[in-house]
Amino acid sequence: MELKTILVTGGAGFIGSNFIIYMMEKYPEYEIVNFDKLTYAGNLANLRAVENNPKYRFVEGDICDRETVSKAMEGCDAVVHFAAESHVDRSITGPAIFVETNVVGTQVLLDVAKEKNIKRFHHVSTDEVFGSLSLDHPEIRFTEDTPYSPRSPYSASKAGSDHLVRAYIETYGLPATISNCTNNYGPFHFPEKVIPLFVINAMRNMPLPIYGTGKAVRDYLYVTDHCSAIDLILHEGKIGETYCIGGDSEKNGLEVADTILKSLGKPESLKTYVEDRKGHDMRYAMDHGKITKELGWKPSLAFEEGIAETIKWYGENEEWWQTIISGDYLDKNREAANQSAVNGSQSTEKEDN
Ligand SMILES: NC(=O)c1ccc[n+]([C@@H]2O[C@H](COP(=O)([O-])OP(=O)(O)OC[C@H]3O[C@@H](n4cnc5c(N)ncnc54)[C@H](O)[C@@H]3O)[C@@H](O)[C@H]2O)c1
Repeated sequence: MELKTILVTGGAGFIGSNFIIYMMEKYPEYEIVNFDKLTYAGNLANLRAVENNPKYRFVEGDICDRETVSKAMEGCDAVVHFAAESHVDRSITGPAIFVETNVVGTQVLLDVAKEKNIKRFHHVSTDEVFGSLSLDHPEIRFTEDTPYSPRSPYSASKAGSDHLVRAYIETYGLPATISNCTNNYGPFHFPEKVIPLFVINAMRNMPLPIYGTGKAVRDYLYVTDHCSAIDLILHEGKIGETYCIGGDSEKNGLEVADTILKSLGKPESLKTYVEDRKGHDMRYAMDHGKITKELGWKPSLAFEEGIAETIKWYGENEEWWQTIISGDYLDKNREAANQSAVNGSQSTEKEDN
């Protein structure tokens, strides 16, 4: 599939920014429009490597705002949709914004993509839509045929968005694909999520908070491997299909903490047990056989290698995470977004909304 201009929603977030950097390195001829609302999770500092590239443009906007979306999508051939409220714990304390962004925002994007005859729409989703697996049957993993059974407001809102994408494929023939991926980790990961939180806390000799017994299992994938899978689906995936993406790295909370503490040479006594998450799913695991067989993708990094890379990155980028922890990144975001508006005729712009 020949593409020229890609609209990336949520490109200032963790995976979106990694994806933009990955794509701009691999396809220097592509134009990338980063459409992001800059919520607390969006950080323009993630995009320093590309911000002066003339093929990159930042547009500040909300995916729920049809007019702004429509203007930003003008002239694009493809959309890769990452923008979402993504933190399960926040969805438990405040579900409304999850429905607004993840369900309503996705519907607005789909509508505009249909209107503009976008060649490809790729929707980025999660393994959490499938519910929870048992620890007693390690042989069972999620596949593309697993029925949906979301159990948190976050996963329910992502399930809703996946269903809408399928509805637009079936009803209007929208040329879309979906991927459901396991837990990502790596550079630019916001420190409210478990791996960056553990790494940063361990570096500062602070406690690593472990939910409940620490036995809940997640499958982990290094973020660049997720980017390469999306790249493949975008160019070679079959329209209308869903692809499950996994890391072959099932770890429980204690194992994650132990790996990080060992890598950093820190004591096990930093592990601290805290009250379990409400409705905590026990296990997620993904069978990525379909994308491996059909598109030749598989994870390239084992968990221990990915963790070593991640720790190295957080060690070398202390200013990045210190700015987040101190809350200063919000002011810096605003300055950068305002600067984008001033430089609108150059590489970035700000939409009015
Ligand atoms: N992080 C994971 O482990 C993981 C795994 C599987 C799937 N996913 C999915 O991948 C996508 C990206 O996840 P992430 O971890 O990078 O999230 P993130 O929270 O780091 O980033 C989300 C980005 O979306 C932006 N955003 C939020 N609301 C918006 C709105 N209304 N309009 C425009 N932009 C908005 C934020 O500013 C932020 O930049 C999400 O759809 C998530 O469900 C994440």
